[in-house]
Amino acid sequence: MTDFTGGDPEAATPAYLIRGVRVVGAEPTDLLLSGGVVAQTGRGLDARGARVVDGDGLVALPGLVDLHTHLREPGREDAETVESGSRAAALGGYTAVCAMANTSPVADTAGVVEQVWRLGREAGLVDVQPIGAVTVGLAGERLAELGAMAESAARVRIFSDDGHCVADPRLMRRALEYVKAFDGVIAQHAEEPRLTEGAQMHEGEVSTRLGLTGWPAVAEEAIIARDVLLAEHVGSRLHVCHLSTAGSVEVLRHAKKRGVRVTAEVTPHHLLLTDERAVSYDPVFKVNPPLRTAADVSALREALVEGIIDIVATDHAPHALEDKECEWAYARPGMLGLETALSVLLDVLGQRWDLIAERMSRTPARIAGLSEHGRDPAPGVPANLTLVDPAARRTIDPGEQASRSRNTPYAGLTLPGRIVATFLRGEPTVLDGKAVK
Ligand code: DOR
Ligand code: ZN
Repeated sequence: MTDFTGGDPEAATPAYLIRGVRVVGAEPTDLLLSGGVVAQTGRGLDARGARVVDGDGLVALPGLVDLHTHLREPGREDAETVESGSRAAALGGYTAVCAMANTSPVADTAGVVEQVWRLGREAGLVDVQPIGAVTVGLAGERLAELGAMAESAARVRIFSDDGHCVADPRLMRRALEYVKAFDGVIAQHAEEPRLTEGAQMHEGEVSTRLGLTGWPAVAEEAIIARDVLLAEHVGSRLHVCHLSTAGSVEVLRHAKKRGVRVTAEVTPHHLLLTDERAVSYDPVFKVNPPLRTAADVSALREALVEGIIDIVATDHAPHALEDKECEWAYARPGMLGLETALSVLLDVLGQRWDLIAERMSRTPARIAGLSEHGRDPAPGVPANLTLVDPAARRTIDPGEQASRSRNTPYAGLTLPGRIVATFLRGEPTVLDGKAVK
């Protein structure tokens, strides 16, 4: 597939010529990547010493951008590190990920966000943009050093207590007010904690049948309703993490009609799987928010196509074996997502390339303020892109994941699409489907 003849292996940043690739599904063209950017496009470009990649049958997308990744470093390097998570991301077609703050210690100071940012640079596989915590220690009591994190080398713009909800409305208001000064965003894990005490799965017919305590849809919807009103009142930006119910879509639709500055994400697993999976009692299907009903899944799909839901974010949540291979009640919530997200979306949406580019790259890059990302390959644009083979199908094997963890909910499932190559600023992080370093 990759032809290195003519390439100069000694060159500092060798040029790459991708031959005959369909950019966002359009007619085949060549892409010459050089000096970190797309230097030239067009048919029949001269290779002139560049390494040649055969793009026949492949689709080029702007490198995917994940707004919601748990990298677990510092603190749980047994489950994932910045490096292993970055590799998983690159293999999934990502060129940038936003690292959630629920690490240990929590990313609630300039020091910790700078550490994560630096580890990301050292790994050099994707751009790692740290998310800062909203409250000290995710405890929901005092605002963290939002300004110091914004001014740090990591230039934090998104703040989230993800894993926990900022339940106190006064704190939520203050946080929205604070970040307005630098056009920051508060990303809320919408879960009214009093309504989900002891919850094990979605509250509904299946939870009743299994006798498990339910997590009602209204616990999510009530917080989103409150927060869009607060965001409107303050005139600040709100982002809703992992929206999971049909009712949440309706709240969001209403808020958007009113012009509230709100964006929302949905995960691949909430677009594909339902609460029926809990019948197996396999904790790989335990996640927060929980898998919902088939009616919710179809409402989420429609909202994603329509644009009421702005983006797909993975909520990649690696967990060590002992935290997953135990009884359902004791298992940690969360599932892997980076290496399978695009395949799940191809399964759900089909080959709607422009829609996929919009929801998985352009819009998340815009929300995160990552101006080098989310741009379709064109002359002068930073060469952050991924090449997909849409005709390939693959059966998901947890043992083959680059993540340090194994908790993929898609084990044994055959899904469409394969990432053939990913380029970060013109340098390959993945070639022939394999990580380069
Ligand atoms: O399932 C989840 N896992 N939901 C969250 O909000 C947090 C995440 C984690 O950190 O494992
Ligand atoms: Zn969350």
